Amino acid sequence: MSQITGPNYGRSSNSPYHCGMEIKNDLLLRVLQGETTERPPVWLMRQAGRILPQYRELRNSLSGFKELVTRPELAAEATIQPVDELGVDAAIIFSDILVIPEAMGLDYEMVEKRGPSFPKTIKNIDDVKALDSGSIAAERLDYVYQALQHTKTGLAGRVPLIGFSGAPWTLLAYMVEGGGSKTFSKAKKFLYTQPEAAKLLLSKITDTIIAYLNNKVKAGADVVQVFDSWAGILSPDLYREFSLPYIARICTAMEDVPVIVFAKDGWFALNEIGRLDCQAVGLDWTVNPQLGREWVGSEKVLQGNIDPCLLYADFTTIRKHTIEMLKAFNGKHIANLGHGVYPDTPLDNVRCFVDTVQEFRYVH
Ligand code: CP3
Repeated sequence: MSQITGPNYGRSSNSPYHCGMEIKNDLLLRVLQGETTERPPVWLMRQAGRILPQYRELRNSLSGFKELVTRPELAAEATIQPVDELGVDAAIIFSDILVIPEAMGLDYEMVEKRGPSFPKTIKNIDDVKALDSGSIAAERLDYVYQALQHTKTGLAGRVPLIGFSGAPWTLLAYMVEGGGSKTFSKAKKFLYTQPEAAKLLLSKITDTIIAYLNNKVKAGADVVQVFDSWAGILSPDLYREFSLPYIARICTAMEDVPVIVFAKDGWFALNEIGRLDCQAVGLDWTVNPQLGREWVGSEKVLQGNIDPCLLYADFTTIRKHTIEMLKAFNGKHIANLGHGVYPDTPLDNVRCFVDTVQEFRYVH
């Protein structure tokens, strides 16, 4: 990997640089640095994917999802597509949270129309001990780092690039459950019945994520986001014991890069998430902007939080709710949905959301 210096996040200059390349639209980085801007930046979780006809075409030309994830030039192409098509203010690297379990020794399959599936799952402490972790596991993800480097070249400094990881609890949930689930009862049973094995697993996942995200930053990520997609199925006590401390370790280990923490349905933990060493906190649509601000506190940037289903409505309705949201946050805000965009959302409706944010101006 070529030697790349980190972004100047937290340093004195106003224009962030990466690999000596100026980022032309640095709105996202400026908001994360605490600057007041004339409008919020906008991007969408899952913007690289099935909403785009060019993604579907690329994807259909391949053997499957994993081929796209593991071929760096193609992953870079999928990453840049929404920047070209929608003009969003950030790119997010095309990949998946499940590359981490795979690098630790637990292969996954992406089953067409069903989602992820793990042929082998974690059942006990011996299974946990057999997994690789830390930099040894993270080194196996060279295809992701290469995808970031290809993307940086392709973007030519147009917008910042977001790297991401699943949170340790969310990854444990898939590794124990073996796939998606409504209740994740096997994964929760593991926490209640084998807490020591669970903590060893969370620790090993955390070590891997830290090495992985640091490699992503070296390869060009300007910002990182941690997705705790299954935060909402834990009780506050379980969340405090089995999720937060590990996210806290990740935040502390990320130097010189802004971190966004998104705990889906984790409203009950927003107060504690607001005290993490991160720059921004993602909100899903179940929390209104005022309550989100109250719970997270005044310091962090907030990200979100339009219901993805709003984008099935007509343009007038989309505009109305989007502007209401922008006014309610009124700064220190990154406009986004409250979760990933649904694949059957009409592209023009996504465009309407993005354009509404980009035409908006704060009245300061
Ligand atoms: O946001 C982006 O545009 C970047 C790409 C991205 C993908 N997955 C691509 C993807 C990101 C950030 C993810 C994260 C991810 N993956 C999460 C966390 C975010 C969240 O949604 O809560 C989770 C839980 C996963 C696991 C995962 N990957 C599931 C459950 C599925 C199946 C459901 C589905 O959407 O099909 C995937 C597959 C997946 N990951 C697709 C894409 C574009 C669809 C696969 C395809 O193209 O066939």
